[in-house]
Amino acid sequence: MKLPLLAAATAGLASAASIPVEKAEAEIASVAADLIVRALPNSPDGYTPANVTCPSTRPSIRDASGISTNETEWLKVRRNATLTPMKDLLSRLNLTGFDTTSYINEHSSNISNIPNIAIAASGGGYRALTNGAGGLKAFDSRTENTTNAGQLGGLLQSATYVAGLSGGSWLVGSMFVNNFSTIGELQASEKVWRFDKSLLEGPNFDHIQIVSTVEYWKDITEEVDGKANAGFNTSFTDYWGRALSYQLVNASDDQGGPSYTWSSIALMDDFKNGQYPMPLVVADGRNPGEVIVETNSTVYEVNPWEFGSFDPSVYAFAPLEYLGSRFENGTVAENYSCVRGFDNAGFIMGSSSTLFNEFLLDINSTSIPTILKEAFTDILEDLGERNDDIAIYSPNPFSGYRDSSEAYATTKNLDVVDGGEDGENIPLHPLIQPERAVDVIFAIDSSADTDYYWPNGTSLVATYERSLEPSVANGTAFPAIPDQNTFVNLGLNSRPTFFGCDPKNISGQAPLVIYLPNSPYTYDSNFSTFKLTYSDEERDSVITNGWNVVTRANGTVDSNFPSCVACAILQRSTYRTNTSLPSICTTCFNDYCWNGTTNSTDPSTYAPSILIASSAGMKSAVDYSVILIAAAVAVFMSV
Ligand SMILES: *[C@@H]1O[C@H](CO)[C@@H](O)[C@H](O)[C@H]1NC(C)=O
Ligand SMILES: *[C@@H]1O[C@H](CO)[C@@H](O)[C@H](O)[C@H]1NC(C)=O
Ligand SMILES: *[C@@H]1O[C@H](CO)[C@@H](O)[C@H](O)[C@H]1NC(C)=O
Ligand SMILES: *[C@@H]1O[C@H](CO)[C@@H](O)[C@H](O)[C@H]1NC(C)=O
Ligand SMILES: *[C@@H]1O[C@H](CO)[C@@H](O)[C@H](O)[C@H]1NC(C)=O
Ligand SMILES: *[C@@H]1O[C@H](CO)[C@@H](O)[C@H](O)[C@H]1NC(C)=O
Ligand SMILES: *[C@@H]1O[C@H](CO)[C@@H](O)[C@H](O)[C@H]1NC(C)=O
Ligand SMILES: *[C@@H]1O[C@H](CO)[C@@H](O)[C@H](O)[C@H]1NC(C)=O
Ligand SMILES: *[C@@H]1O[C@H](CO)[C@@H](O)[C@H](O)[C@H]1NC(C)=O
Ligand SMILES: *[C@@H]1O[C@H](CO)[C@@H](O)[C@H](O)[C@H]1NC(C)=O
Ligand SMILES: *[C@@H]1O[C@H](CO)[C@@H](O)[C@H](O)[C@H]1NC(C)=O
Ligand SMILES: *[C@@H]1O[C@H](CO)[C@@H](O)[C@H](O)[C@H]1NC(C)=O
Repeated sequence: MKLPLLAAATAGLASAASIPVEKAEAEIASVAADLIVRALPNSPDGYTPANVTCPSTRPSIRDASGISTNETEWLKVRRNATLTPMKDLLSRLNLTGFDTTSYINEHSSNISNIPNIAIAASGGGYRALTNGAGGLKAFDSRTENTTNAGQLGGLLQSATYVAGLSGGSWLVGSMFVNNFSTIGELQASEKVWRFDKSLLEGPNFDHIQIVSTVEYWKDITEEVDGKANAGFNTSFTDYWGRALSYQLVNASDDQGGPSYTWSSIALMDDFKNGQYPMPLVVADGRNPGEVIVETNSTVYEVNPWEFGSFDPSVYAFAPLEYLGSRFENGTVAENYSCVRGFDNAGFIMGSSSTLFNEFLLDINSTSIPTILKEAFTDILEDLGERNDDIAIYSPNPFSGYRDSSEAYATTKNLDVVDGGEDGENIPLHPLIQPERAVDVIFAIDSSADTDYYWPNGTSLVATYERSLEPSVANGTAFPAIPDQNTFVNLGLNSRPTFFGCDPKNISGQAPLVIYLPNSPYTYDSNFSTFKLTYSDEERDSVITNGWNVVTRANGTVDSNFPSCVACAILQRSTYRTNTSLPSICTTCFNDYCWNGTTNSTDPSTYAPSILIASSAGMKSAVDYSVILIAAAVAVFMSV
């Protein structure tokens, strides 16, 4: 799909503002892109997918009966590289009565006995990006002071997988595409994470070459036109992904990073050497006009090597680098060349977050030129009428691959939508695949389930219900999860809660889930999902609150919490090795594990107040009292 309205608006405005209509052609790398194996911007022709010579073994589709050989090989390196950080982390978590270092040393010869850790960051727009960022910042041993008592630094270095969905995919994508930047670096950056500028208006123009909102959309429109002119179906997601990239991808010579591919993450030396975890992005499959629910959704994942799904409807994976090639019956047909550059990093993040129509509704609150507002309003109406909030993966790589009656086996296009559309707003799906054998998932939930935009367990309920439907679950298992009323009534959504503490109670292989719901520790972090601009102070305050959520305010709310995290990390591993955990773990599991109790009565409106008055909060209280005194004096004087 082309968006003539937007193109006309930008072209019209450009000439009106006498900006040259002809933009210098995006520089096409003069070196054959296939030779560039280290740099991230390795797309052959910027945003436009381009024909390249196929490798000697033609790219092919594989079935989803296991993980890829690439992942299997990488895991050998990564799992080994987690041993030292994990020993460091566990030794700091005060597991009195248990020698964690000896335990890990004793079992490291059989890596499948070592804890296999994953982190998941839910959707929820910039609220999810920033709240999740607080979690990753606290888990990252590179962040100052995270290796002090009461802190969880090193969890990120100990993890095998980090998954993101929608706003969470912006977080994970921004971190990994920018060379595994720390959250602190992204906050301090002049080029990315400047959320005080709406992505509808464009980036902070002081720091980049484009000078206006019009030029910004004109650049974006030209890039998307380039893809369309090369014969690829496009949708509003292409524009959306480009716009997101200006905020998330730090590409100094290459504004908005049109050449940055997701598959290039696999080429980074540090990644190949197992120095950081594997990033995963989740999106859903949906045909136009179709309704999806957790019990019939197709959940796609994008990992550094592949795009595909473990679900029965698709049950196949395509090599990510060659997405956009014309796969037929499982291979790129002989008379076609291969295509590279389809897996633009922003397009992948955009595919996971296609709720842009909701963002566009806010268009009139921005200060963009009227003609653009009108163009966006028209686009919105168009999107709504055609139910077109999709990302188009075309040609469908799975076409003809499986002899199946499923639509996905024959359609020309695959339509991909926001990963949260099936209610599973935390990207757990890739992490509960039995082949991945994850032991423990730190699930950061920034969902806006309740009236006041707090989570209430809806996402976990959706994943649990899906696991009960054998034909969709397809071998996955999940711990039992109570209804949302119970979450609210028992406060399971206002503090960390562990699910699946006792593996004997679960049939099938399911991880222990450490549920970390967004909650106001030091800041009211419940902004609307569709809030488009954050001041630096808002951004940083949500990040700090997110940190406090995952650390229980640096252990000040419960000094046992760090020990409890260690118990949860070690639970599955010690179960396999038949090793007893120390007595502190009994206390921890009593305190943090959901014990099966339910209370399904309708709760009153969930409206939590700030748990810990911050110095800023105290200051405003003082200011307020000053005003009161002044008012009282004024009243007194006037009597
Ligand atoms: C993935 O594995 C295949 C087959 O072993 C190999 O040819 C390819 O180079 C690997 N891809 C990456 C990005 O390492
Ligand atoms: C495992 O990691 C250690 C420490 O990082 C390293 O010295 C060793 O070579 C690694 N072994 C393998 C098989 O990668
Ligand atoms: C470690 O845990 C023990 C008891 O489990 C407790 O007495 C001690 O204060 C804790 N130490 C720290 C630094 O939290
Ligand atoms: C780290 O801890 C030191 C000592 O307590 C403190 O002075 C410093 O401000 C802390 N840094 C950060 C970033 O919190
Ligand atoms: C999924 O279920 C919903 C609700 O039952 C239904 O409307 C929709 O058509 C179903 N979609 C598919 C792909 O089966
Ligand atoms: C998952 O679905 C595929 C495709 O229908 C099927 O071949 C496979 O046996 C299923 N796996 C399990 C464990 O049920
Ligand atoms: C794919 O398989 C179908 C059915 O077997 C066949 O008709 C078609 O020619 C095949 N296409 C290619 C490109 O081999
Ligand atoms: C790429 O190759 C296909 C045939 O495989 C051809 O139809 C298409 O026009 C080519 N695209 C470009 C931009 O050269
Ligand atoms: C923006 O305002 C204009 C003029 O009031 C109105 O026609 C249009 O529908 C509004 N757009 C949106 C998306 O609300
Ligand atoms: C939980 O969230 C869901 C989804 O937004 C909502 O329908 C439900 O009413 C909420 N329940 C409670 C108790 O908050
Ligand atoms: C916890 O530590 C972080 C990092 O030093 C700090 O920003 C935050 O304010 C602390 N939380 C509380 C509740 O003091
Ligand atoms: C289970 O937890 C609830 C509170 O969540 C508590 O009231 C109850 O006593 C616990 N039951 C058992 C058997 O520990």
